Formats: sequence, structure tokens, C-alpha cells
Amino acid sequence: MATYTATRDRVEHYFDRSATKTWERLTSDAPVSGIRATVRAGRDRMRALMLAQLPEDLRGARILDAGCGTGAMAVELAERGATVVAADVSPELIKIAQDRVPSQLLGITWHAGDMMDPALGTFDHIVAMDSMIYYSAADVAGLLAAAAPRLSGKFVFTVAPRTPALMAMWRVGKLFPRRDRSPVMIPQSTARIADAMRTAAVPGRLREVERVTSGFYISTALVFQGRN
Ligand SMILES: C[S@@+](CC[C@H](N)C(=O)[O-])C[C@H]1O[C@@H](n2cnc3c(N)ncnc32)[C@H](O)[C@@H]1O
Repeated sequence: MATYTATRDRVEHYFDRSATKTWERLTSDAPVSGIRATVRAGRDRMRALMLAQLPEDLRGARILDAGCGTGAMAVELAERGATVVAADVSPELIKIAQDRVPSQLLGITWHAGDMMDPALGTFDHIVAMDSMIYYSAADVAGLLAAAAPRLSGKFVFTVAPRTPALMAMWRVGKLFPRRDRSPVMIPQSTARIADAMRTAAVPGRLREVERVTSGFYISTALVFQGRN
């Protein structure tokens, strides 16, 4: 829990202050450089892959977009009929999301704060795109444990995979800029998270779906299902 809170504070500082403008641009239609364009394309593919894990018709479903950022996933879920709770620890990103959402699109409640705040209630499904990539395997297991009793369907989330390239960058500190307050991306494998789930006695199953690689974007989608 201590590591979880410390990581979340770094993430909040990064997205709410240092990287707000960059993130706003990356997640908009504005032109971006070649490398960022590959990241944007990869993220579009990942969002579609995650949405494909859920039923096509989401009318009547209550879904948490955990770490919603500027809200692209929340909008797509609402367009498919879901009632969406979109939570992000960065109030600045929540403001951008609210400004962007088409006024005719109803059914999204925005929440600036922790994605697993119990006050957010219970859900049919939870999605967390690239918002758990900064947490240790034990903290990821902790998030799944917190979600399990409040979830009847799937928890679709992503991790940064333990590829040779990402591990090498991580070891030399490229993914771990100690000098500034950027959050650390921690490469994970499904097996390590499953181990952490066993250690923490998290009830449920974990399944790897698919990896998306596009230039500098590399991320793996996983699905957790509790026993509810
Ligand atoms: C890489 S961004 C992804 C945003 C969005 N899901 C997307 O794909 O566009 C990660 C987001 O997760 C949020 N986040 C990370 N940990 C969080 C937590 N514990 N509670 C709420 N938001 C969190 C960050 O503030 C940031 O907006």
C-alpha cells in the first residue's frame, strides 16, 4: 500500500503538471511527430482490442474507466450504451476530458481521484488502459483484489511487457528517470502478476489477450475475472 500510494502520487504529479500538454496533444487529432504518431496508432489499436473483450451492446452495463486520462475510452463505452464512471487521479486531465466530450453524449460521470475509490460503487466491467503500467506486480494484484468484490464481469487492463528491449531500457534507467518525478513504467509478465495474485490470495483468473507493438508503443492486454 505504501508503494501504491507513492507511485500514484508520482503519476499524479507527472500527468497533472509535467506532461499535461503533451498528453493532451497526443490524445487529440493535432499533428504529432513520427514517433508519437506510431504511439498514437498503437494506442488506437489497443483501445479497439480492449473494447473487443466486452459485449458489443453495452446498454445497461455500468463500467469503470480506471485512469481515464483525456477520456477516449470512456466516450467509446458511452457511445456503445454503457453508463460510465471515468476516474483519473489527475484533475487537469479530467478537465480536458470534460471539455472534449460531445455535449449530446450522456452517461459519463467524471471523478478526479483514485481509480479504486470504494465510493465509486460496483461495476459490470472495468477497463484500465495503460494506467496500471507504473505499478509493481504486488500493487497490480492489490488493485485486482480491491476490484474483485465490486466486479461482476471483466477487468480488462494493460501492462508493459518484459521484452528484451524494455527490460534493457529499464535496467539502464531509461524507464526510471530518478532525477525528475516522472513515474516509472515497470515491465511485467502475466506469470509475475499471477504469482502476486496467488501471494495476495486474489480470487479469480487472469488471461493474456494480445500484445500491441507500434513504434515506441508496446503494451499487452490482460483480462481478469473475479469469482462474483
Ligand atoms: C498513460 S495514461 C492513460 C490514460 C488513458 N487510460 C488512455 O489510455 O488514454 C495513465 C493514466 O492513468 C492515471 N492513473 C494512474 N494511476 C492511477 C490511480 N491510481 N488512480 C487514478 N488514475 C490513475 C494517470 O493519471 C493517467 O491519466
